[in-house]
Amino acid sequence: MPKHSCGALSAAHVGERAELNGWVNRRRDHGGLVFIDVRDRDGVTQIVFDPQHAETFAIGESLRNEDVVSVEGTVRRRPAGTENPKLATGEVEVPVEAIRVLARSLVPPFPINADVDVDETLRLKHRYLDLRRPRLQRNLTVRHKIVKAMRDFFDERDFIEIETPCLIKSTPEGARDYLVPSRLQHGAFYALPQSPQILKQILMIGGFGRYMQIARCFRDEDPRADRQPEFTQLDVEMSFVDEKEVTAVMEDCIAYVWRKAMGIEIARPLPRLTHAEALRLYGTDKPDLRFGLELTDVASAFAETPINFLKSHATDPRARIVAVKYPGGAALSRRDFDELTETAKSFGAGGLIWIAYDGDGWKSSIAKLLDDATVNAVRALANAEPGDALLLVAGPETMASDVAGRLRLLIGDKIGHRPADRYAFCWVVDFPLFEREAETGALGSTHHPFTAPAPGQEALIESDPLAMRAQHYDLVLNGFELGSGSVRIHDPALQRRIFESIGLSQHDIDERFGFFMEALQYGAPPHGGMAWGIDRLAMLACGEPSIRDVIAFPKNQMGRDVMMDAPSRVPGQALRELALEVKAPPAKA
Ligand code: AMO
Repeated sequence: MPKHSCGALSAAHVGERAELNGWVNRRRDHGGLVFIDVRDRDGVTQIVFDPQHAETFAIGESLRNEDVVSVEGTVRRRPAGTENPKLATGEVEVPVEAIRVLARSLVPPFPINADVDVDETLRLKHRYLDLRRPRLQRNLTVRHKIVKAMRDFFDERDFIEIETPCLIKSTPEGARDYLVPSRLQHGAFYALPQSPQILKQILMIGGFGRYMQIARCFRDEDPRADRQPEFTQLDVEMSFVDEKEVTAVMEDCIAYVWRKAMGIEIARPLPRLTHAEALRLYGTDKPDLRFGLELTDVASAFAETPINFLKSHATDPRARIVAVKYPGGAALSRRDFDELTETAKSFGAGGLIWIAYDGDGWKSSIAKLLDDATVNAVRALANAEPGDALLLVAGPETMASDVAGRLRLLIGDKIGHRPADRYAFCWVVDFPLFEREAETGALGSTHHPFTAPAPGQEALIESDPLAMRAQHYDLVLNGFELGSGSVRIHDPALQRRIFESIGLSQHDIDERFGFFMEALQYGAPPHGGMAWGIDRLAMLACGEPSIRDVIAFPKNQMGRDVMMDAPSRVPGQALRELALEVKAPPAKA
């Protein structure tokens, strides 16, 4: 008896015997017959129970949603007029000749057979049921295709996949490490890798020139919609390459993945923006290029203004007055503008100025302070048409760019310019090598401390580090950072200077990176690479709002696995073996 998946049967199979295995998706009693849709990963097929066969009919009547069955019958055409053109199997049905009930199901806490909204905690708690639903079946299949395309791509180009360990010494990527206590060496801990960064560099020193890995990474940071404590990277490294060569391979890869997994051709070459351009035009280093509405600097319109606070920002080189255009925004009510102002404040702005150009006239939140000449100058700079509004954010450069960039996204959403099924990739390049950490003001690496400075800039390390550029590039999609990479430092002396510049002492360097500093002294080739977040990539490919929807068993927003109930307390014996003592019981999550 040939086994068929529940999506396989069509008119071509009429008259053939078939065996179907799957779950009861839905039961209908109609005209004395019992109809059941049997479901598996591939689709659903209608089976029919006829009361003339009393024994099977009784079983058919007893079936409930999510029971597991195995049925046999001869495929037949559905009666004329009862076909279902929406289903691949909609022309046929299988009258049940034999049935085995393989398992019964409790009544599921939410419907499996309909794409209805269900509370996420419930979905996560019964993930095995959520996984049966069309959404996760589709998402995990797309994810599989993406990862397969990546592996094929690199295999065809002579890269090899090498697994690196998960029990290691810290590889810093700017987050906290997850630590694993050693039973054999009390008081000593492994760190789980935040990424395979150091190990892939050592593979280059080890002569493996073209490496890739689908690598699990761990970062103890607060989960967000696009962040999980445990996630997967496509990790790549190459020897004897420069920035151009790495980005060319990675760009070929994303085009290949989109073609193979999504059936979509990406327009190439991908746009390339410098970090400075991205901030100036979009207010962020991960711009959403699905739509225009670039930010405009309008400070020049306020150079002579009597409005003191605007004049001071207009003349301060570290400040910006940025306009964001809201097409059609002149039709907004005062209340709408008040809401936008509150939003801008919640983003960190002191306030928001709006100017609405309705026909020949204008309205503004600071109408009393403005004159026609200024309003027209702003309008000309920002290219506003009659019917548009402009939102102006003034203040220190970082804040003004950030708030204006976020308002731009909000406007993009409101006017429908951010559809989930459009994919706008771009490169952001020419990042600063260092940045000041927001909380401490200390100098830190923008990417990680293994990133090489732009050629010829090494002399600035001690004298003007913040002016240095890096050989660092990001791949951005629809406003999300998909991946980061860089050409690495392969000269041990330069690596030491970079470590020192971010405040590491000789002792720190030796203790944390001694093995790596030593490896660099045994003929390290020039090398560079990149890593992409596969969860983010799959999230955007599937048009999902969160990476939790493309991960089979994600953690919730508190970092908990609510199905398994992890993290959880462990028996005292387990702690004693590790020479650990817990001082406070874990807080209730
Ligand atoms: P980076 O730290 O930028 O670079 O990480 C690369 C990409 O990994 C994804 N990512 C995450 N995805 C989900 N949850 C998280 N918590 C998370 N953190 C990061 C993002 C990000 O762009 N070793 C370097 C790469 C290199 O230089 O080759 C690295 O890990 O999509």
